[in-house]
Amino acid sequence: MSDPIRFYYQHQVHEVDSVAPTKTVLQYLREDLHCTGTKEGCAEGDCGACTVVTGELVHGQLEMKSVNACIQFLPALDGKALFTIEDLKQQNAQLHPVQQALVECHGSQCGFCTPGFAMSLWSLYLSQEGSSGSPCREKINETLSGNLCRCTGYRPIIDAARRMTELPKVAFDRAALTRQLNDLQRTDMFVYEQHGQTFYAPRTLEQLVAVRAQHPLACILSGSTDVGLWVTKQMRALGDIIYIRQVAELSHISESDGKIHIGAAVSLNDAYAAVTGHYPQLQEMWQRFASLPIRNSGTLGGSVANGSPIGDSAPWMIALSAEIVLRGPAGQRVLLLENFYLDYMKKDWQPGEFVEAVRIPLPQPQQQFRTYKLAKRYDQDISAVCAAYAITFDGDRICNAHIAYGGMAATSRRAPKAEAALNGQLWTQATIEQAMQMLALDYTPLSDMRASDNYRMTTAQNLLRRFWLETSGTPVSMSVFAAGCADVSNS
Ligand SMILES: Cc1cc2nc3c(=O)[nH]c(=O)nc-3n(C[C@H](O)[C@H](O)[C@H](O)COP(=O)(O)OP(=O)(O)OC[C@H]3O[C@@H](n4cnc5c(N)ncnc54)[C@H](O)[C@@H]3O)c2cc1C
Ligand code: FES
Ligand code: FES
Repeated sequence: MSDPIRFYYQHQVHEVDSVAPTKTVLQYLREDLHCTGTKEGCAEGDCGACTVVTGELVHGQLEMKSVNACIQFLPALDGKALFTIEDLKQQNAQLHPVQQALVECHGSQCGFCTPGFAMSLWSLYLSQEGSSGSPCREKINETLSGNLCRCTGYRPIIDAARRMTELPKVAFDRAALTRQLNDLQRTDMFVYEQHGQTFYAPRTLEQLVAVRAQHPLACILSGSTDVGLWVTKQMRALGDIIYIRQVAELSHISESDGKIHIGAAVSLNDAYAAVTGHYPQLQEMWQRFASLPIRNSGTLGGSVANGSPIGDSAPWMIALSAEIVLRGPAGQRVLLLENFYLDYMKKDWQPGEFVEAVRIPLPQPQQQFRTYKLAKRYDQDISAVCAAYAITFDGDRICNAHIAYGGMAATSRRAPKAEAALNGQLWTQATIEQAMQMLALDYTPLSDMRASDNYRMTTAQNLLRRFWLETSGTPVSMSVFAAGCADVSNS
């Protein structure tokens, strides 16, 4: 028995029961609804031409987020609201302030990217409701991090982001949308079957365990920022799909036993916000991880489950001794994340298991921590090398050094020889140079399109030196590091 996909779009509930489960939101908009304002540039989440805004109830609260329509499958919209550039049209034929500002500031030339920029700006406009003044440059940069334009040079678009808040306001009725979405919520698992493929969206952990056990070969789908590309770029047939984002138990963030618990369905953006609250050193990584629409869709659970050797989260999680919580028919299993990765894209899965959560230890007293990303662009680029260091001191001496790199081996992994060179030593230039030498014994990096083996090794060594330079400016003593930890936990 198949349920229709139900979502709210252009002031009405749409019911869809005839498209393939891997039809993307963008394809449906353009090919079926003939709403062609939303454009396709790359079909892989990179250019932002397809940016739309979705509304969904999370723990009963309305959340409006920009996402890339090109890599989201239509059944994942079930129970949500969709907003596209067509929704900015005002009843009195006036332009929305976002559009008016783009016109006034000359923010559009050929216009291909403009609907995507307008929708990213609209999400910013909504988030500014109730606050006075223009958004700050950092906020504008973050909002536009997933939109590429070949014509304007960006400055006029940034001007438009400021100008839109100076124009007469257009209110958005959140209460009405919340009511609409409440009416769309299901009490049981959503099952959509079409073209010989079934899309399951369980709502409870118990349902997820059961449906996973019944369909062990089904593809688990979370934020679709990897899986979407398997379909749009690699033309892979996915078979049955189990979508985990509606599972209530997987959408929580909490703190207990000295750890931050992050459910597998929590978005990357929310996960990084929670962890950065304790580790402000992650702020730059948070900003540089993909783009805002990718971080709104993707999850930390999906990132560690995918386990790319060039992923940006595994190195700092491994350095901090993070755990992965797995669940399957035999119950729960908790592993150190570093032990989950066995070899290139090979992980320690037991039959029927999925990621339930990750757990990140809170900062330790006398701990120094940093993570660094080296990529060709600041935003929206995959790392050539990603480094993470978490070093704990006992007085003046290093008592526990954790060093982890991405991009240096078949998996993100630690550097045991460099760590051994640090443990028990004073935090001096001689010590750090010895550890840098040891990195050459820990890793044999590859050359590929992102970087040569020599570049990877040299930068990996120099990042370790940078960590030392940034953290050794003051004499190493108990009080200094205790104060450092206090700063971290207070921020
Ligand atoms: C444009 C773009 C830019 C990107 N930039 C970066 C970047 O800068 N840094 C970086 O590290 N990554 C980057 N990525 C990669 C990507 O965002 C991550 O790998 C992402 O976090 C995956 O999470 P997801 O929720 O989207 O997973 P999905 O795509 O839904 O799934 C990914 C994989 O994990 C499995 N899976 C997902 N959830 C679970 C679960 N709970 N249990 C078991 N298996 C599960 C799926 O079956 C699949 O194999 C980028 C991707 C795109 C498209
Ligand atoms: S078409 Fe490029 S991000 Fe979707
Ligand atoms: S206006 Fe031409 S790509 Fe942006």
